[in-house]
Amino acid sequence: MERRETTDQEAEQMDVESQDLVQNLPTEIGMGGNILYQYQGFWCPKLSINGMMLFQQHFEAQKTDIILASIPKSGTTWLKALAYTIVNRSHYSLEESPLFTNGPHGVVPFLEFDFSSENQFQELDKLAKPRIFGTHSPYMALPCSVKDSAARIVYVCRNPLDMFISYWKFSGNIRKENEKHLSLEDAFDKFCQGVHGYGPFWDHLSGYWKASTETPDKVLFLKYEDMKKNSVFHIKKLADFLGFPFSVDEEKQGLMEEISRVCSFESMKNYEATKSGTGPLGIPASAFLRKGKVGDSLNYLTPSMVGRVENLIQKKLQVSGLSFCMSDKLQNGV
Ligand code: A3P
Repeated sequence: MERRETTDQEAEQMDVESQDLVQNLPTEIGMGGNILYQYQGFWCPKLSINGMMLFQQHFEAQKTDIILASIPKSGTTWLKALAYTIVNRSHYSLEESPLFTNGPHGVVPFLEFDFSSENQFQELDKLAKPRIFGTHSPYMALPCSVKDSAARIVYVCRNPLDMFISYWKFSGNIRKENEKHLSLEDAFDKFCQGVHGYGPFWDHLSGYWKASTETPDKVLFLKYEDMKKNSVFHIKKLADFLGFPFSVDEEKQGLMEEISRVCSFESMKNYEATKSGTGPLGIPASAFLRKGKVGDSLNYLTPSMVGRVENLIQKKLQVSGLSFCMSDKLQNGV
C-alpha cells in the first residue's frame, strides 16, 4: 500500500488541534524511557497519541473491514501475516505474496501509527476490500464506527508474563538516544501497576474478551500460546471467522499447513522485508521477531515476580472467566 507523506501544513494543523488536550493529560515514563499519556483510561505512548486521536475522529469503518487488535508484543506481527495471507490467497500465490517484500506491517498498516492526517484517512476509502488494519487501541477507545459496524475484529493476546518480557526487550532495542531504558525491576513494577503502553493489560484483555463473549460473530479472541500449540487449527478458525473458509480441495492440498509454514517465526525471520526493511515508525522490521517462544519470561523473572503477575491475573481477570496457563505450564512451553 502506498503511503503519502504528511505535508507540513497538515502536521501543523494536527499539532494545534491536539496540543491543548494533550498538554493537560497526566504523564508517566514508559519502559523505554518514553512518555506515556493517560488518555481515556489507558496509557497511550506519546508517539501514537496524535495518531490515536486522528483514528478516533476520522476513521470510518466499512462492513467488510478486518481489524486486528492486540496489546503490543502479543503476536500482532504473526496475526497480520496470517490474516493477510488467508484473505489474499486467491490474489497471490504463497511464493509471490507482497508479504515477503513489504512485511506484515507493510501490508497491514496500524491505524494509530501509519496515518497522520484526515486526508489520509479519507483516502483509505479507495483501498481494495476487505481492508485489513492493525490497532493497539483498547476496545473501549475504538471509534464507534468500528464497534457498531459489521467490521470484524480479531484480538490476539498472550500470557502477560511473556508479553511483559517481550515488551521490555523491544523497548530497550528501539529507544531513542535521549531515553533511558528502565531496569527490569522498575519496568516490572510499573507493569504491575498497569503503567505501560496501552495498559493496564488487564483492562485491554478484558475489554476485548467481554466483547468476544457478547458478540462472538464480531470479535474473535485468540491466544498466542494456543496458536503456537496448533497453528493449523487456528488458521482454519481464522479463515472461517473472516469469511474466507478453505475449500475441501484446499484442505486436501495442505494449504493450511503451507500458510502455517510461510507465516511461522522461522520463515518470517528470513523474509527480505524482515532482514533489511523497516516497520511502523521507522523501527527496524527485525525488532518485531525476537525469539517467538512460549515461556521465555521465566528466564528473566524471579518466582516472586511471576507470583505477583499470577495474582494480578487472578484478581483482575478471573471474574471475567479469562485465564492463562500458569508458570508451571509455561515452563513446558505449553
Ligand atoms: P518475543 O519477543 O517473545 O520473541 P508483536 O508482533 O505483537 O509486536 O509481538 C512480538 C512478539 O511476537 C515477539 O515475541 C516476536 O518474536 C513474536 N513473533 C513475531 N512473529 C512471530 C511468528 N510468526 N510466530 C511466532 N511468534 C512471532
